Amino acid sequence: MAAERELAMVTCTAPVNIAVIKYWGKRDNDLILPINSSLSVTLHQDQLKTTTTAAASRDFTEDRLWLNGEEADAGQPRLQTCLREVRRLARKRRGGSAEDTAPLSLSYKIHVATENNFPTAAGLASSAAGYACLVSALARLYGAEGELSEVARRGSGSACRSMLGGFVQWQRGERPDGRDSIAQQVAPETHWPELRVLVLVVSGEKKPVGSTVGMQSSVDTSPLLKHRAEVVVPERVALMVRHIRERDFEGFGQLTMRDSNQFHATCLDTFPPIFYLTDVSRRIITLAHRFNAHHGRTKVAYTFDAGPNAVVFTLADTVAEFVEVVRRSFPPATNGDQFVRGLPVGSASLPEELVVAVVTEPVPGAVRYILHTKPGPGPQLVDDPSQHLLGADGLPRRCA
Ligand code: DP6
Repeated sequence: MAAERELAMVTCTAPVNIAVIKYWGKRDNDLILPINSSLSVTLHQDQLKTTTTAAASRDFTEDRLWLNGEEADAGQPRLQTCLREVRRLARKRRGGSAEDTAPLSLSYKIHVATENNFPTAAGLASSAAGYACLVSALARLYGAEGELSEVARRGSGSACRSMLGGFVQWQRGERPDGRDSIAQQVAPETHWPELRVLVLVVSGEKKPVGSTVGMQSSVDTSPLLKHRAEVVVPERVALMVRHIRERDFEGFGQLTMRDSNQFHATCLDTFPPIFYLTDVSRRIITLAHRFNAHHGRTKVAYTFDAGPNAVVFTLADTVAEFVEVVRRSFPPATNGDQFVRGLPVGSASLPEELVVAVVTEPVPGAVRYILHTKPGPGPQLVDDPSQHLLGADGLPRRCA
């Protein structure tokens, strides 16, 4: 029989996702059960990803956590819930298997280090990727199997959707215990090869109101949100699944924009109102509609989460032209060479009539940069031990 291992370590990566039918509102705050189903696109990890190393050892005296190299509170309830739930799944699996001779002890304390490959200051949602990555790494560490999206959901609702690649639906579920409130793949990331994503980063400031607090306030005060959850979203989710399956950009784009707008309308209907969109966000919305109107069809579609940054969906053949329109409308202040990041963007010369009809009064520096990406796969295991964020002593490598 093998001796019990003294230090076990696993590293995983996980993606960011962006909802095209938004989750906003819980029916159970503790279990994180939503009032409506939602649907998202998982973004490619080459551009946006979280990396997490989880380690367990007999020698660790307390749970510890490092976020981007800084030590943080490992006792936070959502993290501890995920840890407890992964251990529960592992215990269940071990109970049912006789061949498990020397599993890693579930009572060891853990060390977790996590990093994003994008600046947190960019204001891009990082909690979804963060909890998806934590749950993936812990599950590997303990050999837990089962519905892991249900565990990630307990960290942050939207995190359950980052457990899968491509196009993902989070089923609202009906059960009070949340066992049916899980993520399911609608289509893999290879399903729509032409689809592209442009993240227009407008501000790195912290949100005025966090999602958790904001959605609770909306549930408590917004009649529009109630109508949205009961009537509007069920129809929209079914329609969106169809548009995705048919790769119908016109339908997909229109519905994406309408759903973002309705989400922000529920924020305005919340009392006191919540404002996530800024003047720059609204200028981007106007620009997208002018661009589509000029072309006579939906060529770009925006969506905004609980913050001012725009995520724009488009098709590969439109990227260069729209990026040029954004550059003309929001000329880069100082970082001209780094204005476009991520996947390469070709150059486009704009026809004069397009410039006249579409480009708005320039606001220099209002868009800080554009990140070009595409749909991507779900969490991955990192095989190479040199990529672990923790050293053999269980401490972050950069501090060792
Ligand atoms: C606007 O998942 O961050 O991005 O469950 O309280 O952690 P908690 O909230 P969170 O909310 C995300 C809200 C959103 C829409 C979405 O991603 O569907």
